[in-house]
Amino acid sequence: MRPAHFIVLFLVPATLILPSCARPARVSHPAISPTGAGAVACAEAAARDAGLGILRSGGSAADAAVAVALALAVVQPNAGNLGGGGFAVVRSGEAITTLDFRETAPRAASHDMFLGPDGKAMPGASLVGGLAAGVPGSPSGLFELHHRHGVLPWRTVVEPALRLARDGFTVSQRLHDAVEWERDLLARFPETAAVWLPRGKPPEPGSVMKLPELAATLAAYAERGPEAIMSGPVAAAVASASRDHGGVLTTADLRDYRPVWREPLRFRAFGWEVASMRLPSSGGFILAQGLGMLERLGWAGLPRAGVDRLHLLAEVWRRAYADRFLLGDPARMTADVSRLLGPAWIAERAAGIDRARATPSAQLHPGSGNEISEAAATTHLSVADGAGEMVALTSTLNGWFGCGVYVKGAGFLLNNEMDDFVIAPGRPNLFGLVQGEANSVAPGARMLSSMCPTIAWRGDETIALGSPGGSRIPTATMQVLLDLIVDRDPLRVAVDRPRIHHQWLPDEISAEPGALDGTTRAALEGRGHAIRDVEQIGEVSVVRRLSGGELEAAADARGPGAAGRTGQ
Ligand code: GLY
Repeated sequence: MRPAHFIVLFLVPATLILPSCARPARVSHPAISPTGAGAVACAEAAARDAGLGILRSGGSAADAAVAVALALAVVQPNAGNLGGGGFAVVRSGEAITTLDFRETAPRAASHDMFLGPDGKAMPGASLVGGLAAGVPGSPSGLFELHHRHGVLPWRTVVEPALRLARDGFTVSQRLHDAVEWERDLLARFPETAAVWLPRGKPPEPGSVMKLPELAATLAAYAERGPEAIMSGPVAAAVASASRDHGGVLTTADLRDYRPVWREPLRFRAFGWEVASMRLPSSGGFILAQGLGMLERLGWAGLPRAGVDRLHLLAEVWRRAYADRFLLGDPARMTADVSRLLGPAWIAERAAGIDRARATPSAQLHPGSGNEISEAAATTHLSVADGAGEMVALTSTLNGWFGCGVYVKGAGFLLNNEMDDFVIAPGRPNLFGLVQGEANSVAPGARMLSSMCPTIAWRGDETIALGSPGGSRIPTATMQVLLDLIVDRDPLRVAVDRPRIHHQWLPDEISAEPGALDGTTRAALEGRGHAIRDVEQIGEVSVVRRLSGGELEAAADARGPGAAGRTGQ
């Protein structure tokens, strides 16, 4: 067995919650001088072009990331958002930090708010309608990212999204399909249907769509920053949209929302430095535990094809997701995360893996699972600029089009992130995740996420990546990272290679088409794994700076994503 080189470098959560009236000074950018160079990978071509335009104008990677995220809020409304939240990892020269702009539970939220009089979960209440929505984090979070790492004026960074909303954008096949897929949800809310089901039908692919209400909100946001959304008439519109559809969001919830700068979760794996999201996202946790166990188990030395590597992937994820049960908002939970990420626990967990036999998940932790929804209403973007800054940013509404509630007059949809809490004991969430009391609903709490924006580097080579896909985000991200850092695959090959997934419960391996040939499938089944075929596991967007300085970008062939470099 190869020696383990896995070291968690920062175990103590360090956070900087921004007070209402004070912001940290803008970071000076000794490493950043506008070069006009850069690369973007994300889910839609119009958003990619927004980011490339900002880079060509001398913007930093953070400027471009914000422009891409806002453009996605226009052209990918099922996932891109102003009414949701997310996480970003930023590497600027040698400095690395992360921004948590996850939604929070409204102050009127309570532990049992999704239980009916019979003590059972009210069907759909955490997914559809006002009660499902957390306090949006994106308006403050994107502004904060720009405030700290941007070099262009705020207005310039918002402008591409504003143009798309005001002047119109071409409806993609994917947007048409997404609306068709969620037709029933969108039709339930008249204000939502009026925009997204004009004349009762999804917008036609190739047609030009204008979103004047969203354009007005973006224009105000460009002038006044998050105040334009988190207070005043837009905040009042959010509160009344929530109230009208059974929710409890108030203007005070929006006024008091703060993004949080957190130390990244940093560790070494396979000779690379890795920085990912710490809690309240479990993405970095799963990546750190998973890579730590694999390295200890000699994964790099195993044959690429065949059953051994796949078996180990399933076994390390089974264990990491079992520990996820203990996690929640770091402000509220009691589990000792440093122990769970420490070398002793990782060694103990790895030693418990039988290389010839699947460990039944019920032996690792009790629980029960269900089917995982394919909804991937999350969007990931990766950006590099020509001066050494990289951003990996993942943002979400949770389910496609969030809770379905459209904020009339403001032009955006509200998330259904409350479903990422435990809404009833033992009840799996939208993604089949069975979670613990540490992630129960409480006023102001941040719900546990799986988002996994990550930056890894060795010497001068740097990779920024991440994915949508709910519970499958960390496993999709990890497989691409392993292909890049262990097997040194070309970017395109790493991103497109078929993937598998395991999340402890349900106790099964999910496999994409082409991930398992007949012999490998039979061998995995022979070791005790149940296998379920699924259409898709994640949709990874990645940028890489090679040691010579050349930039590469790739968006997953599984979706209509788009990648490019300036100068192309
Ligand atoms: N809403 C999916 C996640 O945050 O993991």
